[in-house]
Amino acid sequence: MAFGFEVLHKDIAGRIGRLRIGSKTVRTPALLPVINPHLQVVTPAELHGMGVEALITNAYIFYRSEQFRDAALTQGLHTVLDFPGVIMTDSGSFQLSVYGDVEVGNRETLLFQQQIGSEIVVPLDLPTPPSADRERAKAELSVTLERIDEARSIVKENSTLAAPVQGGSFADLRELAGQEVSRRGCIVTPIGAVVPLMENYRYRDLVHVVLAAKRGLSPGACVHLFGAGHPAMLALAVAMGCDLFDSAAYALYAKEGRYLTVHGTLFLNELSELPCSCGVCRSQTPESLRRSPDRERLLALHNLYVTLAEIARIRQAILDGTLWDLVDERCRSHPRLLEGYRELLRYAPSLEPFDRSTKRRFFYRGDESCQRTEVIRYHRDLARFDLAGRVLISFSGRSESGFDRYLAFRPPFGPYPPGLGETFPIGQCELPSWDESMVRSGCRGIARLVEENPGATFVVRCEPRWVELVADEVPGIEVLIDED
Ligand code: GUN
Ligand code: ZN
Repeated sequence: MAFGFEVLHKDIAGRIGRLRIGSKTVRTPALLPVINPHLQVVTPAELHGMGVEALITNAYIFYRSEQFRDAALTQGLHTVLDFPGVIMTDSGSFQLSVYGDVEVGNRETLLFQQQIGSEIVVPLDLPTPPSADRERAKAELSVTLERIDEARSIVKENSTLAAPVQGGSFADLRELAGQEVSRRGCIVTPIGAVVPLMENYRYRDLVHVVLAAKRGLSPGACVHLFGAGHPAMLALAVAMGCDLFDSAAYALYAKEGRYLTVHGTLFLNELSELPCSCGVCRSQTPESLRRSPDRERLLALHNLYVTLAEIARIRQAILDGTLWDLVDERCRSHPRLLEGYRELLRYAPSLEPFDRSTKRRFFYRGDESCQRTEVIRYHRDLARFDLAGRVLISFSGRSESGFDRYLAFRPPFGPYPPGLGETFPIGQCELPSWDESMVRSGCRGIARLVEENPGATFVVRCEPRWVELVADEVPGIEVLIDED
């Protein structure tokens, strides 16, 4: 079988891609719902009907199950689960990290996963918890890499090996792990042991760890974020360059009466309205849902619809080049997500090379927008202007005599030649009335231009309220006051 991953569209470090598994295709970003064969609140056939192209199940459950083991071995997973799409199987690693021991070895689980017809197989990696010290993280990473090496000789042509990226909380180890799995030519590369970070809302640490792994991974790797699937954090994860998600949240939360939304999780018991447009929510009331004998299943369906709709929204945002807007919107739902978003913005200079060059729009959404990749790129590209003589930068956009060149000004970007007024990002930038953050950011653009053109003399004309700020950001520049 042929396996491959192709990136079709980009925004920030996020991508729309196509994962090819033999004759099947999975469009990414994709959610792989977790299926427990013993507890199928929503069946794989129903998932397929909802447009789900791939799912994940735990090989260890099949391995240990009297009910499912033989059927899986003789008929294959696709028949047993009644799912024609791509099936990925996890090894017993998660059980290993939670319960401390599993009764299966690396070779055994890999052979078993292939025997039951899994298309994406996972070795018995060691998910190093975030609290582990460096020595442990390093030792466990070597074991994981040895197991990946062993797996490469075991995994045959009908399956592809997913090579987990471990390394605990240590950025250099995560980066090294990324390099090592990419060097081995693995196409699917899950980033592991991040569940404890997400469970504890440690989104800043999540960003740190994921971006470290991404630095080491090939840009052509299809990156799976193991155990991630809450709709509120998917946009952030995609913006970092994650392509696959797996989540049991839809089912686990339904069991506990929890209702997923893109803004966070609510308790069905606390709802007097169902704020969602899915079929379940439009045909039920919170009261009828609470009393329904099908409550768990209906909640699981709602949870899935919400998550799948968010994946669709993210894909559309990538096509439109509006993923930053979506990340900004989602991450304001929880202060800890906002921390994650701000951490991502701190990495914007390293994300900028991955970002696309033109987008449909740039909406200014406050301070954070000034740190976006588009602003960083604009400031970098200002170095290309070659200026001489007396140059006027006019905040009002009016030219005047007595200057050799005249530039207009658009925050948060900065100076621009009037001829570029229609091009991205200047022409597609939507601003509320100017505030200090955006003007300060624009002035950093002026400072860059001044620095790059020591032969030119720059003069800024602006309203009185910006004079101090301009002088602060561009020390020594001549400022003319626009009285009207
Ligand atoms: N599921 C959630 N995290 C992990 C991980 O680190 N490794 C594996 N194999 N499965 C996981
Ligand atoms: Zn709903």
